[in-house]
Amino acid sequence: MPEIASTRELFLHELGDILYVERALADKTLPTLIGEVQDAEFKKGLEKHLEETRQHVKNVEQAFRSLDEKPKAEPCLGFEGLKKEHDKLMEETSASLVDLVDLGAAARTESYEIAAYEALRRMAKALGEDTAVELLDENLQQEKEALREVEKIATRVSNESAKELASA
Ligand SMILES: [Fe+2]
Ligand SMILES: [Fe+2]
Repeated sequence: MPEIASTRELFLHELGDILYVERALADKTLPTLIGEVQDAEFKKGLEKHLEETRQHVKNVEQAFRSLDEKPKAEPCLGFEGLKKEHDKLMEETSASLVDLVDLGAAARTESYEIAAYEALRRMAKALGEDTAVELLDENLQQEKEALREVEKIATRVSNESAKELASA
């Protein structure tokens, strides 16, 4: 028998997956990025999203409890892959392009989170778990806003960086 045999079990597994991601982002990944980037607007945006991410952890834990389950994180291979890709690219890229690498990594992470929360919200809705739907939707909307911010900054930084390299 497969371990995951119902929508509820799949939902709980994927909720554990995003809990792992949110905890990793709050504890380590976002603080590391904040220390790494140079652009002031990007740094400020990351600091704001770190605050939001701390709340995302709490919302996901609360979603578990709303189903009478204990919060349990599941190692997320997708996120680990994104992290590895970022670390490798950092090694290969000159210091002047760090912000652009990190903007790409941030956009990929937000897109991953958005897809995860959309799937979770869909399942919670189908299961009639209204409290979980609300909690997941709060996170989803903030991820969408964070992605829009990152895209806006990435456009500016890309233009500045292309101009600088052209005149170098
Ligand atoms: Fe998040
Ligand atoms: Fe996020």
